[in-house]
Amino acid sequence: MATRKIVEYGDPILRKKSRPVEKFDQRLWTLLDDMKHTMYAAEGAGLAAVQVGVLRRVIVMDCSRDGSDFLELINPEILETEGKQVGKEGCLSVPGETGITARPMTVKVKAQDRNGNWCVYKGTELKARCFCHEIDHLDGILYIDRIIPGAVEE
Ligand code: NI
Repeated sequence: MATRKIVEYGDPILRKKSRPVEKFDQRLWTLLDDMKHTMYAAEGAGLAAVQVGVLRRVIVMDCSRDGSDFLELINPEILETEGKQVGKEGCLSVPGETGITARPMTVKVKAQDRNGNWCVYKGTELKARCFCHEIDHLDGILYIDRIIPGAVEE
């Protein structure tokens, strides 16, 4: 496993749309392992492949940050959302900054695992926020696009 360099705000790659993964091979598994290592080293709750310069629809996440809720999401899609939360959000690609955004309270996602099998995940609160934030990255959207001007945390 290697730590990869995290792309920072201002790099145009962060605005590009990532392409679906078609091959579930060693190249993907190395990317996933490196992303996991990079996310924990940076103390983040999630990381999208575009943040290490790879335009593929790949995400790693762990909202527990201690390894107990580690997820690999390939070609993820939001199936359902419910409710609303307003709260603080940040991003490893926008270091040192946070902003208040609105996100759904509950999110249901389907995604492939590293072998290509489809799985369904459900998250509330921080995990729902994280699903939305990371899937946004795959479409070139950053949380700063969703900041509510003048908002305070509820
Ligand atoms: Ni981010």
